[in-house]
Amino acid sequence: MYIGLDIGTSSVKAILLGEDQSLIASATSDLTVERPHPGWSEQDPDSWWRACETVLDDLKTKAPAELAAVKGIGLSGHMHGATLLDSRGRPLRPCILWNDGRSGKQCEELTKAEPKFHTLGGNLVMPGFTAPKLQWVQENEPEIFSKTAMVLLPKDYVRFKLTGEYAGDMSDSAGTLWLDVAGRDWSDELLAATGLTRAQMPRLVEGSEASGTLTPALCSRWGFSAPPVVAGGGGDNAASACGVGAVDPGSAFVSLGTSGVLFVTNDRFSPNVDGAVHAFCHAVPETWHQMGVILSATDSLNWLAGVLKKTPGDLTQALGRVSGPSAVSFLPYLGGERTPHNDVAIRAGFSGISHETDDNALTHAVLDGVAFALKDCLEALSVAGTKIDRVLAVGGGSRSEAWLEIIASLLNVIVDVPVDGDFGASLGAARLGQAAALGSTDGVFGKPALKTSIEPVPSLTEHYAEAYGRWRKLYPAFKQAGF
Ligand code: XUL
Repeated sequence: MYIGLDIGTSSVKAILLGEDQSLIASATSDLTVERPHPGWSEQDPDSWWRACETVLDDLKTKAPAELAAVKGIGLSGHMHGATLLDSRGRPLRPCILWNDGRSGKQCEELTKAEPKFHTLGGNLVMPGFTAPKLQWVQENEPEIFSKTAMVLLPKDYVRFKLTGEYAGDMSDSAGTLWLDVAGRDWSDELLAATGLTRAQMPRLVEGSEASGTLTPALCSRWGFSAPPVVAGGGGDNAASACGVGAVDPGSAFVSLGTSGVLFVTNDRFSPNVDGAVHAFCHAVPETWHQMGVILSATDSLNWLAGVLKKTPGDLTQALGRVSGPSAVSFLPYLGGERTPHNDVAIRAGFSGISHETDDNALTHAVLDGVAFALKDCLEALSVAGTKIDRVLAVGGGSRSEAWLEIIASLLNVIVDVPVDGDFGASLGAARLGQAAALGSTDGVFGKPALKTSIEPVPSLTEHYAEAYGRWRKLYPAFKQAGF
């Protein structure tokens, strides 16, 4: 038996898998995000741990005998969050999250000061990433910076609570910008650029390797008969890739979660800094990945649902299938954008609203706008020489077949929908837990059973290609107008 524990932005999910990877039980516990200033996004690290306790208690209630037989636990989590600990392992401040935009100035300065962020780090210095956040803390909260003994990513704080070990995996650690991504090791030069050293970083392991074992106290709390190993795990995207079996070079997936991601596995480190492509290590050894990231995918639909006082499901159900692009356009930049613009200041907008525009038209525009932003990601990956003709869809938004049909037609790819689309990252985490417990990745990362495969619809492809051409002109116009 294996557990996958995913620290998502809006909830912690745990799944319990049998030896054959069948789902035995699952549990979730909600989290909240604090936005103390416009553009900021923070979370209390101990709220992750409380949520983990809740979901593991829940698994114990649902399947105590199976839980007792667990041999491996894998972790995944939202990436890039800066969790600062003092010398006794206590959080010094709320974690600054992946979608926090406060460090724009620090990004510019670090880019000028250390060109190796682009070469060794392989990525643009973007406010979402961890390094510029630490620079912000150094400048704005020097007392906290001086007390910082350890910097962990969110899932690695949970690992610390589970095992007492400071360890991180390659995929998540690449998103700090302190990693030599090709060499799979911390870079002393990149750390020094933000006033840090290796001593403040966790030990590195591969995602499929053991990082420690569960503490005796927790083993007795949850009734494990022998201490399970805790695998390195992965950042949520690399873990999702493990969940859908996208570990071989060329395999790809699209994630429609809070953020939207187009992910492809590579056999080597393949950066494209100019297109704001993310080039990171994968969670399995000797493998890397590229991804385009948009900051507000289902977040855009959730926002609209909130404004219209409906649920996202109500909106997509009322809209149904579409027969062409919306007359209304939407730029999904509620909190700025990463790929391809790397623009923390840009904001979202509708255009083309008329007297006839109703809830359905706005919903259609939001689905299209997110799809167009994913097409921008595909273009950025193509510039780096990557070709994708098939993707698996994961994340809450993949429940909308209408949305997936728009994406398939616009990106001109086949979209495979797995039966358990919602469990992407937690399933991948559990599989990494299994690989660590078995000491081998052989046969662990199979492809999921498919519910359906959505082909591009030729008439939509044609019309969406034209609409994409028009939509692309909006960003420069909004930018110039100062939105
Ligand atoms: C990836 C990214 C997001 C977060 C939250 O670079 O910032 O995908 O991991 O899901």
